Amino acid sequence: MTAQDSINDYWTGRAPSYAEYQLQRLPHDTAAWSSIWAEALPAAPLDVLDVGTGSGQVASILAGLGHRVTGIDLSEGMLEQARATVKDVDFRIGDAVAPNFPEASFDAVTARYVMWTLRDPESAVRHWIRLLRPGGTIAVVDSTWFPHGPQDFYEPEIWQALPLAQATSIAPTAAVLEQSGLTDVRVTPLTSIYELDQKYGVAPGHELQTQYLITGRA
Ligand SMILES: C[S@@+](CC[C@H](N)C(=O)[O-])C[C@H]1O[C@@H](n2cnc3c(N)ncnc32)[C@H](O)[C@@H]1O
Repeated sequence: MTAQDSINDYWTGRAPSYAEYQLQRLPHDTAAWSSIWAEALPAAPLDVLDVGTGSGQVASILAGLGHRVTGIDLSEGMLEQARATVKDVDFRIGDAVAPNFPEASFDAVTARYVMWTLRDPESAVRHWIRLLRPGGTIAVVDSTWFPHGPQDFYEPEIWQALPLAQATSIAPTAAVLEQSGLTDVRVTPLTSIYELDQKYGVAPGHELQTQYLITGRA
């Protein structure tokens, strides 16, 4: 079993509780996330690929903004949750590190809470750029989720295989986008999400953290 197989199994096991938490937060969070994604991407309608789509909440918001959205994930359990709750999105099994689509098929690639758990984020971003049409956008959201070191939900060898999982600042994640050749890379702290997390609480097992939007253009 590869590290990626173990990661996929973990997310499939966690999918029901992950989806439940996301749905609980939906009434509080939708307006803030809609505004974040509307500002992160050019005006709809775009062809958008949401990688590591999970239970599909980002894909759902993007579709709500008028984009044509494809969501990929390697966890069958997550995709099952996504298909059960989100309409108007094409959900498929697919690897965020090497998505299997023709070159120049999308105007934007999005990835929320995914960079930290990629086995090869640099290769992933290079692949995403090839999928973009000229001037296309990559927009990711992530944070320093584990500042105190590995947690026990992944085995120790998996933590070692994930270059960004133990980052103590957002700089290494931004550097992956900058070094991939994207232009106009911008890092924006998401204060609205921090305030919502303060008010409604963070996901189980998490600490209150600033989340960052990082965007760049191909
Ligand atoms: C923390 S969840 C984020 C889900 C969703 N993007 C969101 O914002 O709620 C991380 C997701 O990344 C997926 N994932 C991890 N590695 C992946 C890979 N190489 N390819 C596709 N999906 C992957 C997991 O299965 C999981 O659904």
